Amino acid sequence: MKKYFPFFRNYKKALILAPSLVIIDVICEIVQPELMSKIVDHGVLLKDLHYILRTGGLMIMLSVIAIVANVGNVYYSSHASVGFAAELRKGLFNKIQSFSFANLDRLSSVSLVTRITNDVNILQEVIMMSLRLLVRAPLMLLSAVIIAVRINTGLASIIAIAIPVLSICIYFILRSGLPFFEKVQRKLDKLNGIIQENLVNVRVVKSFVREDFEQKKFGRSNEELRELSVKASSMVVMIMPVMQLVMNVSIVAIVWFGGNKIIGGTFQVGQLMSFITYITQILMSLMMLSMTIMTLARAGASSERILEVLDTEIDIVDSPAAIEKKLVVQQGKIIFEKVFFKYHSEANEFVLKDINLTIEPGETIAIIGATGSAKSTLVQLIPRLYDVSEGRVLIDDVDVRDYTLRNLRTGISLVLQQNELFSGTIKQNLKWGNPNASDEAIIAAAKDAQAHDFIMTFPKQYETVLGQSGVNISGGQKQRLCIARAILSKPNILILDDSTSAVDTATDARIRASFHQHLHGTTILIIAQRISSIQSADRIILIDDGAIIGNGSHDELMKTSQVYQDIYQSQQLKNVTAS
Ligand SMILES: Nc1ncnc2c1ncn2[C@@H]1O[C@H](COP(=O)(O)OP(=O)(O)OP(=O)(O)O)[C@@H](O)[C@H]1O
Ligand SMILES: [Mg+2]
Repeated sequence: MKKYFPFFRNYKKALILAPSLVIIDVICEIVQPELMSKIVDHGVLLKDLHYILRTGGLMIMLSVIAIVANVGNVYYSSHASVGFAAELRKGLFNKIQSFSFANLDRLSSVSLVTRITNDVNILQEVIMMSLRLLVRAPLMLLSAVIIAVRINTGLASIIAIAIPVLSICIYFILRSGLPFFEKVQRKLDKLNGIIQENLVNVRVVKSFVREDFEQKKFGRSNEELRELSVKASSMVVMIMPVMQLVMNVSIVAIVWFGGNKIIGGTFQVGQLMSFITYITQILMSLMMLSMTIMTLARAGASSERILEVLDTEIDIVDSPAAIEKKLVVQQGKIIFEKVFFKYHSEANEFVLKDINLTIEPGETIAIIGATGSAKSTLVQLIPRLYDVSEGRVLIDDVDVRDYTLRNLRTGISLVLQQNELFSGTIKQNLKWGNPNASDEAIIAAAKDAQAHDFIMTFPKQYETVLGQSGVNISGGQKQRLCIARAILSKPNILILDDSTSAVDTATDARIRASFHQHLHGTTILIIAQRISSIQSADRIILIDDGAIIGNGSHDELMKTSQVYQDIYQSQQLKNVTAS
């Protein structure tokens, strides 16, 4: 609960006013039956019209106050709960922005979406409800009991029986119903997951003609949810008839005993009427209270899921030393020093083993190796997308952990293997890494990435609107826009992780040629599959199963590395068979 306090920060006033207004509302409401009984016993029986008018007027006034208090309560409690939800969503979103790759590996994006939307909504509803009923129900219950005892202690013993009976019934109904509600919640999660995953991958589904399969999967889950929901609510609907029964039996008992007392002359008709109203209020409040408690219990699951995000420890953060030093990347020299790495600390084997490598500023380095040999893993350590398990990565002779993440990543542009664009225009996408870039700089970057020509063929050119994740352009075009975006931020170190895999060999060569011409001084790391794309690099690093097994120019490796020769031969062979 304490974790949620900051999100209420701006709503303290509403948080105090909402329950206070409920108190006023309850006071106004609780005296009404008593006033009514006075009208009957004094006004009507004694034919005192003046008394009737006076008391009636008071009742109307109290009703008006109650209505105003009620409206105020609804206003302030929705103000507080909606505001809380907005703050919480913002808090969650910001927290997720600071997540490291390792954090993101653990919590899937689908589940994060459900948490930010669905789970927050559930908390919002619960708060709205609590700010009203959690105050109103116990207060009403308590004051109605006190007044009933005051009216007639003997008759109030009926209440002493009715309350425990109803409480026990509600307890057993809820106890059997609650587990179903928890299951409903979990099923709903699963259904949300299925929907979101399907929507994200809708193109894959279509291309594999798996719509039927997906429909069945959804249908099954949807049906399970329906069945569970029906079971859960059929348990809870039992509460109403049980309460009706307890209430009616109590009323009959009150009329019976109260009637006897009236005949005996110790009780009055008006008192009997008000007594019946009070017992109705008592039992209704009891039911409301139990319903609220049930909703609170159900919201517990949502709260846990939200807290899991809020409590996630961000494992990659700025060190105090880094914040103090405020270093920026100047040259782009990279050193891997006895680096070992694994994704999960409990894993047995290291993904990267004893990496020692020095890359000079301005060098163009190619990295080549079989799929799964940990090429991407290696380069992801440079901008600290993951932290090394052992050893150090240094940039300009400073440990990457001694830079702030902002300064480090400003100096490094990494075009990820799976890269995405945002919806918006091409220009907005390119400027994403450097919002202040001039039009000339944008065009120059696009030219270097061999993107300018195809952009100019679009009717709206740089203002062409891209669909979600750039669906309306080709794979190779998307890759080139990603490269242009990366070079526009003028990094000291540029890393391309298989970023031209969908680009033809000739265009690929032109991209490298313009890098050579225009990105002087920039340290460039290129991960590639084709030896033809990297032959001209200053040096080639050959990786196998997480270890460096070759390091030198193309000619050197051709002489010294059997593995490199094999790769070269196989690719030559492929070229021959292809042509
Ligand atoms: N996020 C991750 N969590 C756990 N293991 C991972 C993760 N990413 C990669 N791995 C594992 O680490 C190893 C190296 O993967 P990596 O992506 O670095 O290979 P790669 O050389 O880039 O391959 P490719 O040429 O196919 O891109 C693989 O065994 C892979 O299963
Ligand atoms: Mg890779």
